[in-house]
Amino acid sequence: MDASALFKFTSGLYVVSAQAGEDVGACVINTGLQLTAEPLQVMVAVNKQNHTQGVIERAGHFALSVLTQECDMDYIARFGFRSSADVDKFEGIERRETALGDPFAPACSCAIVACRVVQTLDVGTHMVFVGEVADAEVLGDAAPLTYAYYHSVLKGTTPPKASSFVPDAKAPAEEAPAPAGKHHFRCVLCGYVHETDDEELPDDFTCPMCGAGKDMFEKID
Ligand SMILES: Cc1cc2nc3c(=O)[nH]c(=O)nc-3n(C[C@H](O)[C@H](O)[C@H](O)COP(=O)(O)O)c2cc1C
Repeated sequence: MDASALFKFTSGLYVVSAQAGEDVGACVINTGLQLTAEPLQVMVAVNKQNHTQGVIERAGHFALSVLTQECDMDYIARFGFRSSADVDKFEGIERRETALGDPFAPACSCAIVACRVVQTLDVGTHMVFVGEVADAEVLGDAAPLTYAYYHSVLKGTTPPKASSFVPDAKAPAEEAPAPAGKHHFRCVLCGYVHETDDEELPDDFTCPMCGAGKDMFEKID
């Protein structure tokens, strides 16, 4: 079976976020989907190991922002390769709140939807939250970021906690022919591929995506 066939599925990229008391969670997902029009309902699938999952469960509501093509990999790394358990993902960027009290970042978002959780479904590694839309706002005209654009233009990778993770699938950066004299190192935690002229990574090298140290990198070529 070639599970990379599922990379042909089209989807967008989103940040789902929630606040329960003082506890904040926010993470990139590609599993945002409109389910029904009446009532207006959406769903998100969030890995149980993601901090955001527990926060949504406790809050009983969440915000879903639709990311735009203006996103760079730093923005994706902030929300998609780090945990809200360790860092404040809204530090240093504009933060607003939905009518339900969930934080969101208007930067790199073209729409924001505030949802109350009306159903929860345990699908194994992930929890599916069905949210009834309580409020929605268009934030700008920038084109929504698709997963295809993320893979082909931003050369983004898919971390293990994403629903769409395919073990052993080649990251787009690995599939491209390696320029002569270049070497590639892959972060085993998040899949980021670093290209360099050097045979070795410097001792103080850290992954720009997830912050892992040099020891977490394997040499590809
Ligand atoms: C492109 C991309 C797609 C992702 N899709 C999902 C997803 O659909 N569901 C999910 O739970 N995590 C997904 N993730 C992983 C989470 O964003 C990631 O594990 C994040 O660090 C969790 O943060 P948290 O611990 O603050 O919740 C995705 C990450 C990326 C970069």
